[in-house]
Amino acid sequence: MKYLDLFSQRTTVRSYSDRTLSTADLDSLLKAASHAPTTGNMQLCTAVVTRERNEIELLAPYHFNQPCLHTAQAVITFCADVYRFERWCAVSNAKPDFRNLQSLLASFFDATIFAQQFCTLAELNGLGTCYLGTTTYNAAPIAKSLNLPEGVIPVLTVTVGYPAELTQTDAGRLPAEAVVHHSSYRHYTDSEICALYKEKESRPDSQQFIKDNNKETLAQVFTDIRYPGKTSDPFSVAFADFLNNAGFKGFESYSNE
Ligand SMILES: Cc1cc2nc3c(=O)[nH]c(=O)nc-3n(C[C@H](O)[C@H](O)[C@H](O)COP(=O)(O)O)c2cc1C
Repeated sequence: MKYLDLFSQRTTVRSYSDRTLSTADLDSLLKAASHAPTTGNMQLCTAVVTRERNEIELLAPYHFNQPCLHTAQAVITFCADVYRFERWCAVSNAKPDFRNLQSLLASFFDATIFAQQFCTLAELNGLGTCYLGTTTYNAAPIAKSLNLPEGVIPVLTVTVGYPAELTQTDAGRLPAEAVVHHSSYRHYTDSEICALYKEKESRPDSQQFIKDNNKETLAQVFTDIRYPGKTSDPFSVAFADFLNNAGFKGFESYSNE
């Protein structure tokens, strides 16, 4: 078995040097990544590349001005895209009916796998990448800013550039047995859950996180500070609204909340 350390040795890179990533190299990476597996070989996805500094700065507020944007050589918005396929159907005397949850999921899978193939290839070529999950928080203004037609949905943004320094720390992962089950799901006792999360909880950075946020447990940092429902709810409603406005069925009640 080869390359088994490939992912355990990589880290997200949030600060980039001023070394230029050539357009030719970026294009080559995107072209290679576009061979990613895709639902029914429909390629329900699109990457919008932003390279001009002023254009990156226009996107930055929608990503809450995350620092990685300001030094990135390129900012790539990976989108779910049923629109292009529908257009092809329309000019081919075929009637598309893709604005439903299954096609939406297919387009999200395609966009996500495209993005990850790009990240893996970029990292193998000495670049650093950072995903921005903030994309779906502000899908509507990002779509407007990138001039996306209805049916093209910003899913994930990736910043890319040559790493500024090699001081990124390994964020660690749960032991493999936490995320892999065999034959059927192995239900956990409380003590088994505690054992699986013990190493993560005892890391110095986790302890610091708890202290800095004045919490008792690491889980509380996630529930109360990082991802509280009260913060996610308005973004969820806005995203459902965006999908509803694009004609995707099934999001009316969510967007009316
Ligand atoms: C869908 C997704 C969204 C993410 N969003 C952000 C983000 O908005 N900002 C950020 O700095 N990192 C983001 N990340 C990177 C994660 O924080 C990172 O992968 C995780 O902490 C593990 O660290 P590692 O990649 O260095 O192993 C995101 C990763 C994924 C997969």
